[in-house]
Amino acid sequence: MQKIPYDEILNIQRKVDIVDVIGNYLSLTRKGKNYFAICPFHDDHNPSMSISSEKQIYTCFVCGASGNVFNFVMNYEHISFYEAVSKVASNAGFPLSFKNISKVSLKDNKYDKYYKMFDIVNKYYQNNIKTVYGKEALSYLHKRKITDDIIKEFEIGLSLDDNNVSKLLKSKGYLESDMVDIGLCGKKDNFIYDIFRNRITFPLCDIEGNTVGFSARIYNSDDQNKYVNSKESVIFKKGDLLYNYKRAINYAKEKGQIIIVEGFMDVIRLYSIGIKNVVATMGTAITKQHAKLIRRLSKNVVLCFDGDKAGEKATISALEVLNDIELEPKIIRLEQNLDPDDYIIQKGKDAFLSHLKNLMSSIQFKLEVNKEKTDFNDYKEVSNYVNSIAGELEKIDDKIVYELTVKKLANETGLDVSTINSLVSNIPKKEKKIITKAKSITKNKYEKAEEYLIYYMLKDSKAILLYQNKVSYLSNDKLSQIAIKILEFYEKKGYINVTDFTLFLEDNNELIDEVLRIDSLNMPDDVDICVIKDYINTIDVGIIKREIDKLKEKISSEQDVAKKVVLLEKLATLKKKGV
Ligand code: CTP
Ligand code: MN
Repeated sequence: MQKIPYDEILNIQRKVDIVDVIGNYLSLTRKGKNYFAICPFHDDHNPSMSISSEKQIYTCFVCGASGNVFNFVMNYEHISFYEAVSKVASNAGFPLSFKNISKVSLKDNKYDKYYKMFDIVNKYYQNNIKTVYGKEALSYLHKRKITDDIIKEFEIGLSLDDNNVSKLLKSKGYLESDMVDIGLCGKKDNFIYDIFRNRITFPLCDIEGNTVGFSARIYNSDDQNKYVNSKESVIFKKGDLLYNYKRAINYAKEKGQIIIVEGFMDVIRLYSIGIKNVVATMGTAITKQHAKLIRRLSKNVVLCFDGDKAGEKATISALEVLNDIELEPKIIRLEQNLDPDDYIIQKGKDAFLSHLKNLMSSIQFKLEVNKEKTDFNDYKEVSNYVNSIAGELEKIDDKIVYELTVKKLANETGLDVSTINSLVSNIPKKEKKIITKAKSITKNKYEKAEEYLIYYMLKDSKAILLYQNKVSYLSNDKLSQIAIKILEFYEKKGYINVTDFTLFLEDNNELIDEVLRIDSLNMPDDVDICVIKDYINTIDVGIIKREIDKLKEKISSEQDVAKKVVLLEKLATLKKKGV
């Protein structure tokens, strides 16, 4: 999405109230000047997020999530910063005066020709299947119970056994080099040929629904390769897209659930029987980008990979990636190694629906996978098994589910329930809470001085000017980035205040969280300039002290006497400069 100018963002932020906007998502309670809510960014039980209507900022004092109104919508809805700005604006009835937020501007114009080429070829393939050349392909699809309506809906087509695509594109004025770059054609010894030949074609779309590639299946030959896929290009990255994403958006919202399968044939089968909230990873492992897209569709995720060992492995690795972004998917494991397509063909719709009604929790799944691998006569293996499960038990917050799971585990292993319980409480919670606490371990006076300098730079231009003229650098990387940004903001705008500065940081959550954490330090607001100068002195001393420490280390490991002397001399000068 194109950049929205800062002034436009500020303008919208001034017109809306963060309390109203967050109030549309969470239930708020007023306490004095502030509002409180259950924090949606960690597993919260007591309201720990506060929303300040004065500052137009939210902060969670447990997990540290914080930001302005746009950051909230962005993080809550998992959309981009600019999407959040435009959403907040239009919901509040202030459509952006900045005009270009249309679909056309969402992508770079220089790729437009590629989208057009794919569009032309897609239509050409779709037409082929309706001609006499398409008879055999059609009967193959019908045999697989793919109806004409589905063929139309999924734009299934046919590539012929010739080189007509290159001819067609050439006749429309497209360059051979472009056809090769996006993988529609290949070139050998000056001869241009079609990549997809005599195959049933399935267009692959990006998240906006533009065709950016094809996957093509054999249907009447004994070619070794079942599928041929478009090669990756500037507009097509397999790990960045999910098959059926665009179509699934509304169905996933409606059902409050998204089902993930491996193959696009599985998507098409589920869709045919009316289960339309489904997307496919298309045989690749789930990437971080996939995970983000999935979370946008729904937080209630069902993994339904092939019933074979490979599908089990894919499920395990998908769980890792999804757990990393706080998703706890439910699982379906199909019997007899079947994939969802074959399963539904062989066992029928109802059999599949009953799986969908009896979903396995990811903990149950992990328990079963680990159990299969364990030799219960080998005590060491049993110990590994129980320890690995203990980490999972930690995550169960339903007391009853917890107790039943522990009892089952005790029965399987012959251990006492109390032994298992003791393991669980011994394992540190992997929650954000602990991480943030760990971060706030005592800082030395040099580190504190850097924080305090930033605190005043966020409030007072005098501190910014002192930083500009007197500070060589800050040792803390994040604080150093913040200081540079504050200076940039001040030079552009001629003033400073925390809320407006967070708007300037756009979607940089990490810096915003740090800025707001520092802003919440309890410091006297009216201080003499001497105090700030003192912080800067301390920072300087810190810099020299670190140099001295480094030199001392070098000296102690230096073998060459002459070199050692030079280093010692350097040390002496540094010491004079410093303390
Ligand atoms: N895949 C691929 N290239 C291959 C094999 C598989 O790109 N040579 C991808 C395809 O996107 C396919 C998915 O991996 O949809 C799952 O593969 P597979 O289970 O082999 O395909 P099916 O969905 O079972 O296809 P079909 O039923 O047509 O055999
Ligand atoms: Mn199949």
